[in-house]
Amino acid sequence: MYRELALSDLVQVRSRRQKAAAADLARYESAFGRWDDRASVRRNPRRLLGAPAGDAVYFPPELFPAATHQLVVDKGPDVVRRLLVCRLYDYLNFTTELEEIAVMPVAGKISRGRAGIDLPEHMRADAFKSVTDEAWHAQFSDDLARQVEVHTGVPRGRFGMPAFAGRLDGIRVGMPDAVHGLEGLLFAIVSETLVSGILADIPRDERLPAAVRDLVRDHAEDEGRHHVYFRTLLRHLWPALDTEQRQAVGPLLPEIVFAFLEPDYLSVGRSLRACGCTAAEAEQVLFESWPTDRVVRDTARAAEPVLRYFGRVGALDDPGTAEAFTAAGLWSA
Ligand SMILES: [Fe+2]
Ligand SMILES: [Fe+2]
Repeated sequence: MYRELALSDLVQVRSRRQKAAAADLARYESAFGRWDDRASVRRNPRRLLGAPAGDAVYFPPELFPAATHQLVVDKGPDVVRRLLVCRLYDYLNFTTELEEIAVMPVAGKISRGRAGIDLPEHMRADAFKSVTDEAWHAQFSDDLARQVEVHTGVPRGRFGMPAFAGRLDGIRVGMPDAVHGLEGLLFAIVSETLVSGILADIPRDERLPAAVRDLVRDHAEDEGRHHVYFRTLLRHLWPALDTEQRQAVGPLLPEIVFAFLEPDYLSVGRSLRACGCTAAEAEQVLFESWPTDRVVRDTARAAEPVLRYFGRVGALDDPGTAEAFTAAGLWSA
């Protein structure tokens, strides 16, 4: 079993037999050139939560529609405040889970030369730096959640399985064996090129405790480098796939995008219940806060960068893939 684990590649890319051109492998501009000076794990201190002001906001309500739903607002400012603390817990837990389940295993395989595609040698070296960054992000997110719990007295409760894990399982079930593994690699590419954009405004939002803003800024700065890295990874991956593989996995790309960006309804429902909503109230708030057209609109806007990258590598040239993106409401030709 361990031998098998050690030798297994992330993806089985048949056309790999056609070795990538030496020129392609030589042309790599590392975004990690000054990693030792710039990486958060090297440069920044542990972010410590001071005693926040009584009116501190722990998550911007404008980014969390449930907190501005009338049914929740009518329950009073304490319930809203508590719900925003829960939203921060969910964000921090999501970050920890994403790094550990979805990103570090992919970057780890690349670092060991087990991606299954030809990559520039320096990309392997940079993958180690990415794994280190992500382990730090997972750790500091968990650490801050513990501090918030102590300061606010709002219990973190039990977290369930993050929604993206179940969604990826669902996608994998429908895939031919020959392309298994690509869902994980593409999910890492999608999440790593979109994660820095999601909370770009938080570091500037002075209603939030400084430790929360600083931590999100630390993360975003590292993710700027990861964004460039995973965009480059897509440039190497897509041409390495043969037509059959592209046709098999291309139409699944919209689902992979939704797997990352769509709200985790179960986790929001748990938070609403923990803040005193009945099951029926929680369901109503969920239903009215995230109508389908809003979810599609928000997802399409957030996904724009990765759609551009898919376009550049030619993924949208496949009619089945283009049709899937159009049907999902994420793209119009
Ligand atoms: Fe990260
Ligand atoms: Fe990252």
